[in-house]
Amino acid sequence: MSDEKAHKWIVKDPEEEIWWPSEELKKAAWVSDESIYEEAREDPVAFWEKHAEEGLDWVEKWSKPYDWDPPFMKWFLNGKINASYNCLDRHVKEGRGDKTALIWVPEPTEHDPQVISYEELYEKVQKFANVLKSLGVEKGDKVGIYLPMIPEAHIAMLACSRIGAPHSVVFSAFSPESLNVRLQDAEAKVLITADGYYRRGKKLDLKDDADEGVEGTGVENVIVVKRTGLDVNMVEGRDHWWHELMEDAEAECEPEVMDSEDLLFLLYTSGTTGKPKGVIHTTGGYLTQAYLTTKWVFNLHDDDVHWCTADIGWITGHTYTCYGPYLNCATTLIYEGAPDYPELNRMWQIVEKYDVTVFYTAPTLIRALKKGGDEWPEKHDLSSLRILGTVGEPIDREAWLWYLNKIGGGRCPIVDTWWQTETGGTLIMSLPGIGPFIPTVAGRNFPGTQHEVLDKEGNVLEEGEEGALVQMPPFAPGMLRGVYKNPERYEKTYWSRYDDKYYFTSDAARKTKHNCIRIGGRMDDVMQVAGHRLSTAEVEDAINRHEAVLESAVVPEPHEIKGEVPVAYTILRKGEESSEDMEKEIISHVGEVLGPTSKPARIIFVDELPKTRSGKIMRRILRSLLTDEELGDITTLKNPESVKTLEKITGYKGPG
Ligand code: PRX
Repeated sequence: MSDEKAHKWIVKDPEEEIWWPSEELKKAAWVSDESIYEEAREDPVAFWEKHAEEGLDWVEKWSKPYDWDPPFMKWFLNGKINASYNCLDRHVKEGRGDKTALIWVPEPTEHDPQVISYEELYEKVQKFANVLKSLGVEKGDKVGIYLPMIPEAHIAMLACSRIGAPHSVVFSAFSPESLNVRLQDAEAKVLITADGYYRRGKKLDLKDDADEGVEGTGVENVIVVKRTGLDVNMVEGRDHWWHELMEDAEAECEPEVMDSEDLLFLLYTSGTTGKPKGVIHTTGGYLTQAYLTTKWVFNLHDDDVHWCTADIGWITGHTYTCYGPYLNCATTLIYEGAPDYPELNRMWQIVEKYDVTVFYTAPTLIRALKKGGDEWPEKHDLSSLRILGTVGEPIDREAWLWYLNKIGGGRCPIVDTWWQTETGGTLIMSLPGIGPFIPTVAGRNFPGTQHEVLDKEGNVLEEGEEGALVQMPPFAPGMLRGVYKNPERYEKTYWSRYDDKYYFTSDAARKTKHNCIRIGGRMDDVMQVAGHRLSTAEVEDAINRHEAVLESAVVPEPHEIKGEVPVAYTILRKGEESSEDMEKEIISHVGEVLGPTSKPARIIFVDELPKTRSGKIMRRILRSLLTDEELGDITTLKNPESVKTLEKITGYKGPG
């Protein structure tokens, strides 16, 4: 480890498994004084106003900072602003155009990486914004983005925001059908995609999926990035090559003046029904939260190289690979491929080569790389690292300690950031200059926000008691403003549980000492599979569409690497035989309908599912059968005898 880089950023409490920032980190941090919490608590709205004003350039200042008309909030009312201007123009104007904005690492090691300066990114974004305009995209039109992790993904997002055309990014590994549902709901006019991408050394096609996905939607034009050179079918009049359009595009494009509450983007996420919901994020508040949380949580300074490993298909990819870093004029790194390709040291090789200082990933990746063995990180000099982050699911103590010691060399704080697609940016974590860093504990409320743990009646619970995690007013500026075209679902999902008073996160949590919060996991029918959000209903719908299936119930089962995986209890139609082949067929059918990330780990064929008298499947019992937990009261079931059979099939041993 090179001495000049290897600072000791944390110190361990001699008594407990708790770490605190070292004096050195406190000095280097944007915030290191606990009084920030008190100051923000006294007047949260003034706190956010201060940072919105200091951190962003507004065309026109707001006339009112915050409005709450249950269950709808607004921030920076009548303020005028443009996202792309704040990510690019102002940095270039301030003479920082030479600074590296984006480092792109392709998967094939023989391909050249790209290092793109703010000036270059600014040029590309303006040109692509003009491309969109030339295809008739106007302010308010929705643009679908179905791209792998290549620079064009960021260029497309920033170009959309430049002209006020909200983007709706769809994860490139989602199936054509998932793309189709999202494009339809968002009423997208244009789709931006690629001919394909590289994954574990293979060229994978994306254009065929995109073609299937746009069928029957309102998409009039498809823009295709040439990434692999695979032979693809281009539909005359509808499909255009990105590089050809860019050649002819005008160089300058004025940013559109947007209202603070104008839609910046939609992002579809899983809920408790089979239909994904379009989460609405607006401009001024989202940008403020993205800007400030990126700066403080990752303690971003001018010399940092920030690598968030999330795909742009997820909210983490939006806020912490794209908007947050660019708003801070930081250097952001993105990687195209698989974390273990060509070998298990790929991530560490990238950290070493590019002197990555902030590394932000999901527990599932940490567990997978830990399982791969210590020899892989040991091959590399990781002393450039200053801050490690995790997100997406609870992290277990063993993975946390491995991350701390093997990747962070015992020197770097781990910021365990809790948040959701709905919250726009992270809201619970320990700030690097303040701490504490405790395995399995996310941390404190970000200044200017307040989360509480409540019982069913809405009483605040004591430290140590598990309950529902809620956000209290005033609600954070980056919070969702609604579910696209579905205000009832918005009200019911997030607000009805506590009479429109608090935002219900659907997570269980408990408060711990040092004013921290420990996240328990989802309370609804949403699973976090490898850090990716998946609804049990979505997977059930997909399984039930297989012709041999009568009914199914999907529950999460704990998994060593992925945190949890979906397992399906399935009843076949009369005359259908359960077999290994049938299991494989159903699993691959789900892969086709939803995409590979949604495939169940296994199918348990059954004749009956435990149901309540009103016909509701008791998933709680199905879950406990897999984890040998107490089954609880089964007397209220319509068919309690079904549980005995299921105990045999699953090999249920019971608690202890
Ligand atoms: O259950 C929580 C879990 O991820 C859910 C949100 O998923 P999604 O909208 O896909 O966003 C993930 C990335 C922001 C939450 O309801 N979750 C997120 N972060 C954490 C977490 N669980 C425990 N610890 C975290 N740090």
